[in-house]
Amino acid sequence: MNAPTHRRILVTSALPYANGQIHLGHLVEYIQTDIFVRFQKLRGHDAVYLCADDTHGTAIMIRARAEGRSEHDLIAAMREDHLADFAAFGVQFDHYGSTDSAANRRLCGEIWKSLRDKGLVVSRDVEQLFDPKAGVFLADRFVRGTCPRCRAADQYGDTCEKCGATYSPADLIDPVSTLSGATPEIRSAEHLFVQLEPMQDFLRQWTKESGALDPRIANYLTGHFLGEPLRDWDVSRPAPYFGFEIPDAPGHYWYVWFDAPIGYIAATDEWSAARGGSWKEWWHRGTDATAAEIHHFIGKDITYFHTLFWPAMLETAGLALPTKVRIHGFLTVNGEKMSKARGTFVLARTYLDHLDPAALRYYYAAKLSGDIDDIDLNLDDFAAKVNSDLVGKVVNLASRTARWLEGKQLSETYPNDGGLFARGAIDGVEIAAAYDDCDFARAMRLVMAAADRANAYVDAAQPWKLAKAGPEAAEQLRDVATVALNLFRQIVVYLAPVLPELAAETGALFGGPIQSWEESRQPLTGAPVAPFKPLARRVEAPQLEALMAASMPTAPPSTPSNPAPFGNASVTEPTDPAETLAAEPLAPQCTIDDFAKVDLRVARILTAEEVPEAKKLLKLTVSLGGEERRTVFAGIKGFHEPAALVGRLVVVVANLAPRQMKFGLSEGMIVAASGAGATGVYLLSPDSGALPGMRLH
Ligand code: 2FM
Ligand code: ZN
Repeated sequence: MNAPTHRRILVTSALPYANGQIHLGHLVEYIQTDIFVRFQKLRGHDAVYLCADDTHGTAIMIRARAEGRSEHDLIAAMREDHLADFAAFGVQFDHYGSTDSAANRRLCGEIWKSLRDKGLVVSRDVEQLFDPKAGVFLADRFVRGTCPRCRAADQYGDTCEKCGATYSPADLIDPVSTLSGATPEIRSAEHLFVQLEPMQDFLRQWTKESGALDPRIANYLTGHFLGEPLRDWDVSRPAPYFGFEIPDAPGHYWYVWFDAPIGYIAATDEWSAARGGSWKEWWHRGTDATAAEIHHFIGKDITYFHTLFWPAMLETAGLALPTKVRIHGFLTVNGEKMSKARGTFVLARTYLDHLDPAALRYYYAAKLSGDIDDIDLNLDDFAAKVNSDLVGKVVNLASRTARWLEGKQLSETYPNDGGLFARGAIDGVEIAAAYDDCDFARAMRLVMAAADRANAYVDAAQPWKLAKAGPEAAEQLRDVATVALNLFRQIVVYLAPVLPELAAETGALFGGPIQSWEESRQPLTGAPVAPFKPLARRVEAPQLEALMAASMPTAPPSTPSNPAPFGNASVTEPTDPAETLAAEPLAPQCTIDDFAKVDLRVARILTAEEVPEAKKLLKLTVSLGGEERRTVFAGIKGFHEPAALVGRLVVVVANLAPRQMKFGLSEGMIVAASGAGATGVYLLSPDSGALPGMRLH
């Protein structure tokens, strides 16, 4: 069957959690998806790239509490950060929504109703671990303990990383809440479940026959999950929970994984509505020419959600099923899991301080072959590959030839190039097929082979000799440069999905943007050639060293070794009031030895409770790491909710002589700021990465 010539393609990446910053692992997927969408658009298809922040759940709720702000405040701030990171890496969404949107609430309600109407929702009491100190039911990843199967210590509440067992958190041996260090209690609460077993036949058929899944994944699912009765899916959480309350079950909230994928449709709804359309144009079911393709890009860790639960929800609601679920592996750095201790857990923004985003886009493209294997970012290989391919082969082609035609024009007729351009145009068919399959690695190999041929042409034609030969060789020089620059431009069209900035700058070199894949088929003639500007930068070892140093847990705020090329953002010095300092002038000077007598340490608050008889005091237990504990009475009552303090890192004066108070012995002091004009007492928190026991110098 021939593929339709004009396709409507809706593409999504997994919605990133709003409780974390974007890192290089995330970027594998967003860059991969962005390349796919840019390719489809360049081919003239109607492709749309949708994503959103995944905002709900216990983690956000706990973090907002710890930071003393509302969840809405927190998710708004994280959204800004995410969008800035994505934009800097050239990840261009058509719409970026939020699962905490009105559209998502409405669509969750509609899909929920269809599940209810089909009788698939049942209610059951569930025993769940409850943290008595933090006052919340514990999501699986907030519990650690010993695996009930292989007895490996320090495993998550739902799966053992050592033996792969999956279990209920209540089965963990010696469970500990990672929020407060408390031993969780088992409490029973009503939960709502979606029955999946009635969908078994549908899921089995869809998995095997739809073509949406890589055969390896389809076989795995068929062998491991669809071979036995499907367990009901627990889709509700009792209060307190940050999410949408279920309209027909007050006090119950949809579990974050229920509303997250519906966020794909909500993003479609918002995007379509802004253009006067409807999300239904994309999600209606049909086999006719108006039906859209739906491609979900995801990591292998969230396979079940997208291949079992999600199709079951869509099927029940009568909506379109995914055309493709494109699953990629994890990112390793230098052959190992990303690690903060080794400085290989690199945040997007740290990378941007040191290196060019185009380099990472190219490297990931060269590694991604569309299968589920993990990909490795080997930093030495990264530098070598970017320098040899991007700088040495592609950009060099232009930099060594454009200058001969600067301010002049390409030849009026395309010279004889021995068939090189025509060969490149034929290769375009294979390169396009590779992109369409998400085998970007193959596409990059084909492109680099074309660059090698083009460079060999320039080596043989020796334009620098023609330039020296004077006016009688001028025509020949122009022809050689015309060929080289056309071969360069053809290559850049093929690289445009990966390197949009290079494509834009190359367009400017020849007076017009590159807008279509078709431009690889026809050489340019007679066009003016603008002055050549450097199009790529080499990756140097000191940049990589600085990147890793800045990613270490104790790193000072990252100092750019490669400031962004788009100029300095102007910073206006804030004008803070002078009264606070004036009201409490500075203390007399002290020496460094005086200061050294005060031992300030990072500590974690383990418990926090009110002292009923005291107006201002909270009683805190803090950990200085290991078994070292201190009881401290802090004058912060009324400014901080005790439960919100649990788990938080603070600074304590650890060597203060103990003081007997009316309510007990206080063994230190929590460092907090207050002063004239202040309405609160502000606790100090270290940068992320600090650990209890670290000394302040
Ligand atoms: O695993 C994750 O990071 C989830 N936030 C992905 C959600 S994808 C979708 F289903 F919304
Ligand atoms: Zn185990």
